[in-house]
Amino acid sequence: MDGGKEMCRKYLVLAGVLCIVAVNVGGCKSSEEETIKNIKIGVTLYDQYDTFLSEMMAEFTKYTADKEEESGVAINMEIMDASQSQLTQNEQVKSLIDKGCDVICVNLVDRTEPTTITDLAENNNVPIIFFNRELVAEDLERWTELYYVGADASESGTLEGELAADAFKTDSSMDKNGDGICQYVVLEGEAGHQDSIVRTEYSVNTMAEKGVETEKLGYAIANWNRAQAQTKTAAMLTQFDNKIELIIANNDDMALGAIDALKASQIPKEEWPGVVGIDGTDVGLNAVKNEEMLGTVYNDKEGQAQEMLNLAFAIATNGKTDEIPLLNGKYVRIPYHKVTLDNVEEYENK
Ligand code: BGC
Repeated sequence: MDGGKEMCRKYLVLAGVLCIVAVNVGGCKSSEEETIKNIKIGVTLYDQYDTFLSEMMAEFTKYTADKEEESGVAINMEIMDASQSQLTQNEQVKSLIDKGCDVICVNLVDRTEPTTITDLAENNNVPIIFFNRELVAEDLERWTELYYVGADASESGTLEGELAADAFKTDSSMDKNGDGICQYVVLEGEAGHQDSIVRTEYSVNTMAEKGVETEKLGYAIANWNRAQAQTKTAAMLTQFDNKIELIIANNDDMALGAIDALKASQIPKEEWPGVVGIDGTDVGLNAVKNEEMLGTVYNDKEGQAQEMLNLAFAIATNGKTDEIPLLNGKYVRIPYHKVTLDNVEEYENK
């Protein structure tokens, strides 16, 4: 064999060896990825009958099916209802860990009591994604593998205040007694929930910032619940003797309860106070379309469900979180949007 051919043979052998090494390295990586064929995601809800959450979970389940198809990974999902008991929820997290969940999504019952869950998670090395009911920042800092998916409560209050201020400024018939001041009542969600406290404060402050003078006649806590809101609104309608010009509800279900009370009252529809809500649930959007509600603020259940699933999937498959819009490596916050008669159809088709 001459020198040139020998050299060529050596290069070919070397190239072959490099090729085998490359195939092995690549092969090893892909077989590692391939080993994750199944993941298990646990979910525990504070109350499965909550309208917003049941709609959000329907989206979550739908995205899970899409994700399985797109990724080829089987997703075993277990969803539990804590029925408003933190003790029950703590037990559920324990059992979801025992059943081998790779990640657990927790909709806390009591957002001030996450420590049993965070201790269980850390001791068993199972990441937790809290959602919708926001724990304080210090609690989320207790371990690196704790996350939160939700929205910014102050933004929803601000947008609700803008809706109410715009309506009061453009429709003079809302000012029933003609004094230039908006007499209002508030229907509040659960005491202690971030969305009750913050939404109330920001909606009222925003009305003032937008140049609407306001007078608070009263408020009632109706725990996000339509029936409770109906009862409490009926009582306020009597108490304030047709003086209410605006009902600010912390969510759509309570706004709908207020509308139920108005329908049951003797007040003709043209004299109803304006009603504003937050969420854009199916029934809420319908009330905007029927012109029973002035407007609502869209709490993007699709966006929250999608990002929660993407994050849970990435964690469970050791995948990348680069495409998830994580703030400070921990928070995903999906923006709210104003909905009125002008754009309601856009949201109905989401
Ligand atoms: C929603 C409410 C819901 C509550 C439950 C809020 O963000 O606006 O409709 O009842 O979350 O935690």
